[in-house]
Amino acid sequence: MVHTIIIFGASGDLTSRKLIPALYSLHQKGYLPQDTRVVGVSRSPFSSESWREALKGSTRKFSNGFDEQVWADFEKRVHYVPGDIAKTEDFVRLRRELDRLEGGQESTRVYYLSTSPTLYPAAIRHLGEAHAVALDGSVEPPLLGNDRRRLVVEKPFGTDLETAQQLNAQLHGVFAENQVYRIDHYLGKETVQNMLVLRFANSIFEPIWNRNYIDHVQITVAEEVMVGRRGGYYDKAGVLRDMFQNHLLQLLMITAMEAPARFTADMVRDEKVKVLQAIRKYHGDDFVQNTFRGQYEGYLQEDGVPAESRTPTFSAIKLHVDNWRWNGVPFYLRSGKAMSCRTTQIVIQFREPPHLLFNEDRRGSWDANQLVIQIQPAEGIQLQFHTKVPDAGMQLRMTNLDFSFSREFSGAMPDAYQRLLLDALNGDASLFARSDEVELAWGIIDPITQFWQQMNQPEIFRYPVGQWGPQESDEWIGQDGRRWFDVCPILH
Ligand code: BG6
Repeated sequence: MVHTIIIFGASGDLTSRKLIPALYSLHQKGYLPQDTRVVGVSRSPFSSESWREALKGSTRKFSNGFDEQVWADFEKRVHYVPGDIAKTEDFVRLRRELDRLEGGQESTRVYYLSTSPTLYPAAIRHLGEAHAVALDGSVEPPLLGNDRRRLVVEKPFGTDLETAQQLNAQLHGVFAENQVYRIDHYLGKETVQNMLVLRFANSIFEPIWNRNYIDHVQITVAEEVMVGRRGGYYDKAGVLRDMFQNHLLQLLMITAMEAPARFTADMVRDEKVKVLQAIRKYHGDDFVQNTFRGQYEGYLQEDGVPAESRTPTFSAIKLHVDNWRWNGVPFYLRSGKAMSCRTTQIVIQFREPPHLLFNEDRRGSWDANQLVIQIQPAEGIQLQFHTKVPDAGMQLRMTNLDFSFSREFSGAMPDAYQRLLLDALNGDASLFARSDEVELAWGIIDPITQFWQQMNQPEIFRYPVGQWGPQESDEWIGQDGRRWFDVCPILH
């Protein structure tokens, strides 16, 4: 069986920064299925040779451990076919070219849309049309329902529920759902996958992973970067569409889901979807109380940002998962640009002991146990617990047990794209978003953005660059008697 990955948008940034370095690293580690080819498609007038040459330079820059010899071997797999997404005939030509490169053998083809999302509809339609055309001597079976033909789509999956539904309808006109691999690169991060292992391969966490022991959960994706050159895009999106609809809700699902009966793509995703279905719907004033928004100082001066923009660059949202496990346990989701540091953390805040024997005067939820799962920059887990300070009466101190991937395992952590590309080639969709998941996520985000726009509430608080968002967000969570875990990476 031959494998071919076809990258539309071959001359783009994602291809040179992420996709090719990931494929190169997979090749270097011997993980790519034997006989895998990489075919780039775009309008740029490259030949295979000149594309390889360009990729060599970018891969040297963006991959760990570049090796001339390995590259020389890898580049034999790499080919280029010029083509325009707007033209069906170019897709027919591409099909012929793929047949030729594969020598007519049975093949798995993974089409990767690494283009602007505005081109998705044309690319999907033309892929379908090109396969409706008979090629002389071709053995190509129809596209729809052929699980050897897969399509990888990058976010954004629409900009709201309606456009997400339209995109899904376009996709389903040509591909069956199990042929579609929607990438959320957070799911390819090692620690996110390790959450599943932590929860479902250990028996000690399950009994305490619920409302009886957990007070609340905080999920923070803090970014130090500002919007930079992406002002035009970002101002239309805002932090909710850019980060919450996808990455933060994915982290919430992984944290809150039940154990699937088996580790299959659909069983995993069925359980994740149930979490989104259980999220409490907000009405009217709920949006004012349970959502918070901010904008960093200087955002209005960024390129592409209108001077009067009310787009939030920071937000915090309190969600309730109304089911037996999580009843009464709020999930605080928070993300922003221009924050103190780059870190992604899931903090499981446990309840206080039911009866405090020691240091009664220091009572407060901050002193209760915490499990911090750090997803980036370094990846690891920390459990915080009280110990007695030696030779100091009954004085207590919070101490911790750390686990860090880099200390425990040698070798660089793989970039998320390595895992996701490999899974797409091997036909495992567990770590990709399903259409219902995407639509349910929009169903949570849309009402919030609509309320913000229509009612112009809650207030947008400004924050200086390099802070944990607006100071008022401390008061916001403080009303619930809780505090943010404002700690820059705890593990290195
Ligand atoms: C992208 C967002 O999906 O994720 C960006 O569009 C954001 O705005 C990025 O910076 C964050 O990804 P990571 O892997 O750096 O946390």
